Amino acid sequence: MLPKRTKVISVFNNKGGVGKTTITWNLGDALARQGKKVLLIDFDPQSNLSIAILGKRFQNILPSPNTPYGTTVRAFLQPFLQNDGQLQLYTHKGFHTHHDVDLIASDAWLNVYSESLSVGSDLLTGNGLEKYSIINRIIEEANSSCYYDYVLIDLPPSFSNLVRIAFYSSNYFIVPCTSDIFCSYCVELIGETLPRFINEWQLGCGQYNRNNPHNQKYLNLGKPMFAGWIFNGYDTRKPKNKLKGEIMVADQLMASNIAKSVKRFAIRIEEETKNDPLIIQNKPNDMFYFGGIEDMNILIQNSMWLNCPITKLSKMEPVKLRKIRPLRNRAVWSQNQVDQIQKLTIAFLQIANNIIKFCI
Ligand SMILES: Nc1ncnc2c1ncn2[C@@H]1O[C@H](COP(=O)(O)OP(=O)(O)OP(=O)(O)O)[C@@H](O)[C@H]1O
Ligand SMILES: [Mg+2]
Repeated sequence: MLPKRTKVISVFNNKGGVGKTTITWNLGDALARQGKKVLLIDFDPQSNLSIAILGKRFQNILPSPNTPYGTTVRAFLQPFLQNDGQLQLYTHKGFHTHHDVDLIASDAWLNVYSESLSVGSDLLTGNGLEKYSIINRIIEEANSSCYYDYVLIDLPPSFSNLVRIAFYSSNYFIVPCTSDIFCSYCVELIGETLPRFINEWQLGCGQYNRNNPHNQKYLNLGKPMFAGWIFNGYDTRKPKNKLKGEIMVADQLMASNIAKSVKRFAIRIEEETKNDPLIIQNKPNDMFYFGGIEDMNILIQNSMWLNCPITKLSKMEPVKLRKIRPLRNRAVWSQNQVDQIQKLTIAFLQIANNIIKFCI
């Protein structure tokens, strides 16, 4: 069993490109700056989080003649799935990411793991719950050498088996949203799909417990609570007579649409799971709003190219873009950009503090 102190949080939206990976990375870094030990699990076969953190070093951790499964999550999952060889768990650190952040890297082979699982014969029968709760086992193993305060799981944009697996081992999930109508729609889809996922876990557990009354090992799993949503990539404008920038009207409208969808989604989850509510009660506000991250423009590209979280970017030299944009070929950041980095650092810290306060 995991110690109570370790909180496992899935970062998910079934809509693609909303900032799940960017937020997982920078939020993990912000939690570490607040003195927390953080484990990031890249459970997306696209491996974007691993590439963002490790850069070119990502190639070296993939399978090779010396390490047939590489040193990604595959080194644990493949021998587990095949029931041969030793399960090996490797963690990695980024050069620029906070030293208290460890990464379990992804491999595209995760697709094979996902496809080898069957809801009918593994989950509903209760015979393959170990496969569906494997992240819990991974975290137990990681915790045996170092106690983590937070585990953040980056997920693919779909309702796949990988997402089920992450949810079944999570205490909480947070939902990044961008300023578009698709996000409102997708949020409501989560409200439809999650209760079904949980229901199927409970059916499988019921079967397992009937067949194994002496063994309670899955009892605490399969209860991921919705913690809140994050508004990502909105624009602001500073009116002449004001000191602070204001969120653009179109983005404000979209944010209020998403907030309404989130409320409907929360009500729906609560209704469908009355005995075991999947919603945190002690939430930051009525709208479940965890915080916002402005449009990061060129900063985010630099962050990815340099494998450096946003907060440390001002200490790095900007990537030169002479061939693409001659005017931006500066060796230093402009004051505006330094201010923007500072603002984003504060925004990620605020979300980290909400996690610390509400995901308890
Ligand atoms: N606040 C932001 N401002 C500007 N660009 C952003 C912001 N957040 C993320 N991006 C950019 O948007 C793109 C998608 O972000 P990211 O990869 O984090 O999304 P995702 O939800 O993880 O995508 P996927 O669904 O493919 O996994 C990336 O190019 C990223 O650099
Ligand atoms: Mg991603």
